[in-house]
Amino acid sequence: MAKLTVKDLNVRGKRVLMRVDYNVPMEEAQGQMVINDATRIQETLPTLEYLIAQGARVILMAHLGRPKGQREPSMSLRPVAAKLAEMLGRPVAFTDDCIGEKVEKTAEILQPGDVLLLENVRYYNEEEANDAAFAEKLAKLADVYVNDAFGAAHRAHASTEGVARIIAKRGGQCAAGLLMERELKFLGDELENPAKPFVVILGGAKVSDKIKVIDRLLEKADTILIGGAMTYTFRLALGRKVGKSLVEPDCVEVARAALEKAKARGVQFLLPVDNIVATPVKTDKLNKKGKAIIELNNPRVNSSLDIPDDEEGVDIGPETIKQYAEVIHGAKTVLWNGPMGIFEDPRFAPGTFGVARAVVEATQQNGAKTIIGGGDSVKALNKAKLGDKVTFMSTGGGASLEFLEGAVLPGVAVLNDN
Ligand code: 3PG
Repeated sequence: MAKLTVKDLNVRGKRVLMRVDYNVPMEEAQGQMVINDATRIQETLPTLEYLIAQGARVILMAHLGRPKGQREPSMSLRPVAAKLAEMLGRPVAFTDDCIGEKVEKTAEILQPGDVLLLENVRYYNEEEANDAAFAEKLAKLADVYVNDAFGAAHRAHASTEGVARIIAKRGGQCAAGLLMERELKFLGDELENPAKPFVVILGGAKVSDKIKVIDRLLEKADTILIGGAMTYTFRLALGRKVGKSLVEPDCVEVARAALEKAKARGVQFLLPVDNIVATPVKTDKLNKKGKAIIELNNPRVNSSLDIPDDEEGVDIGPETIKQYAEVIHGAKTVLWNGPMGIFEDPRFAPGTFGVARAVVEATQQNGAKTIIGGGDSVKALNKAKLGDKVTFMSTGGGASLEFLEGAVLPGVAVLNDN
């Protein structure tokens, strides 16, 4: 069902409470928190610029990290307000709380076109609990509610769901922002009736994370290309040896069922024909979580479908990259979710980057619609500096996956239908 969007609203002079997903990666540098990747902020600018031009008084709310109800200073949104001001080219006010009298007064004196960012809503446990009294306090700040936080729309929290219900109940409008609208269009409508051939590339570590998506996309895709450690659970299902590769033995049955469903539906379901393997060696060095660091030594191409006992699969191999690229080049619609290997390590990045290049070529040479379903595949494309060369990259992680599974996202369901 199409949702009301900001373009359907008359916001002049109104207080617009807008949920954004500013859960951006940050790092401490010289005693300050610095934003590593501002994509999620950048992507909200069209909605913000539109609201500002319309004379709305904009109040932004967001979460950062998982502070579990504590005022964790490293998870303050203050640096985000500064970054947003820089990107918008205008001042952004900041309040060190998200509810209460001081915040209400600040919201009240905003002038048309002003922007205010509230402190992390997750400094209160009531946010994740979707507490009605807390949502009431947020609702006090607003005439109208806008949700542009697709990345948090799978959470039924006070700022994503509860507050909208309260505003709607008292007759206020609840609409999607322009980013939310684009996310729903590309991950939803465009994949409902995709131009054919429709090629789906799925990677990542676990079959269990992706099985619902696989199951749903088997109804629509012409070809599914599998990469990442998921491969080895499928290989196990086919009776192959997987050495020390990451596998989910309890998912072998669902993997087998997916292979059978693909066959029954005539969907081409491709697994890698070769892999990069390496020998994992436990060191006495510890990582941040206090766990022993495993080094991956002696990487090599393994052209057999079986992996020797002491080795682990870490990327797709050169023959697979070639084969997958050919399939991708012939596509009219591509959906990609999940890396092909451990791309964070440059030795095991060629598979993911090779697929990224093929997706870009399909977009630019073949006019294919290429949709990147969020999370690590977006990180990989950005790392390869190819992020702006595909049709659409989702800002969602868990939300994209749930949406692709066909789940109703609470943060979307609560918005007014158009
Ligand atoms: C995300 O980063 O995927 C969203 O901001 C949601 O964050 P969460 O998983 O902490 O709810």
